[in-house]
Amino acid sequence: SGYWVVVPAAGVGKRMGADRPKQYLPLLGRPLLSLTLSNILTWPGLSGIVVALSADDDHFSHLAEAKHPQVHRVTGGAERADSVLAALDFLGTREPQDTPVLVHDAARPCVALEDISALLDEAVSPVALLAQPASDTVKQSAIEQGCPVVEKTLDRNHIWLAQTPQRAPLGLLHSCLRRALEQHAAITDEASALELFGHAPQLVPGQRDNIKVTHPSDIVLAETILRLRYA
Ligand code: C5P
Repeated sequence: SGYWVVVPAAGVGKRMGADRPKQYLPLLGRPLLSLTLSNILTWPGLSGIVVALSADDDHFSHLAEAKHPQVHRVTGGAERADSVLAALDFLGTREPQDTPVLVHDAARPCVALEDISALLDEAVSPVALLAQPASDTVKQSAIEQGCPVVEKTLDRNHIWLAQTPQRAPLGLLHSCLRRALEQHAAITDEASALELFGHAPQLVPGQRDNIKVTHPSDIVLAETILRLRYA
C-alpha cells in the first residue's frame, strides 16, 4: 500500500560553478539535499527513500537524514538515468513489481504537499508526473551560419514543463529505464523512458514554485519560497 521515493543526487552540479555538488549547497543554512529529504519524510504513506550518491560522496553521512531508518543509499552512475536505475535495482530485490515509485530531484526542495497528494491520489494513471503548463512562448531552434534561429514556434497550449516527482510502478519503470539505457536513448527524466516504449504518462498540473535549483539565482528564489511556506 505504501510507495517508495528515489532521489538521484549523484550529480556534480556543473552549471552551478560552486565548490561542492549543488545538492550540498546551503539554503537557509541547510544543505539542499537535507531540505529535500526532510520534506519527503513528511509525505503521508511513504515506505522509504532511496538516495543515489556518487561513489566519492563525502557529504551525505553528515546530514541529519542520513541516519533516518527510512533513508537508504546506493551508489549512482554516470548519468542521472544510471543513478535512478541503481536505486531501482536496490528496490527490485525487496519490493513487489507493482510498488509505486516516485522519482524526485534532489534539487527540488520546494514541492508542496498538495502536489504530492494530486500525484498520489488524484492522478487517474499509475504513470504520471507533475508538470507546469508553459506560460512563455516556446521556440524550436535551428542553427544558421553558426547562430541559433527560430525554426518554428510551438503551440503553447500543448507545452508543459516537466517537474518531479514522476511516478510509475517499480517493475515497469525498471524495465523501461533499463531498455532505454541499452538503446543509448537521450533520457533526461523518467517519463521519457516510459514514452519510448509506448506509455503516455499523465500530466498532473503542479505548482509553479516547485523549482529545480540549477543556477545560482535559484538559491535565493528557493529560500524565499521555503520561507513563505514554513513561515
Ligand atoms: O542535471 P540535472 O539538474 O537535471 O540533474 C538532476 C538530478 O540528477 C540532480 O539531483 C543530480 O544530482 C542527479 N544526477 C545523478 N547522477 C548523475 C547525474 C545527475 O543522480 N550521474
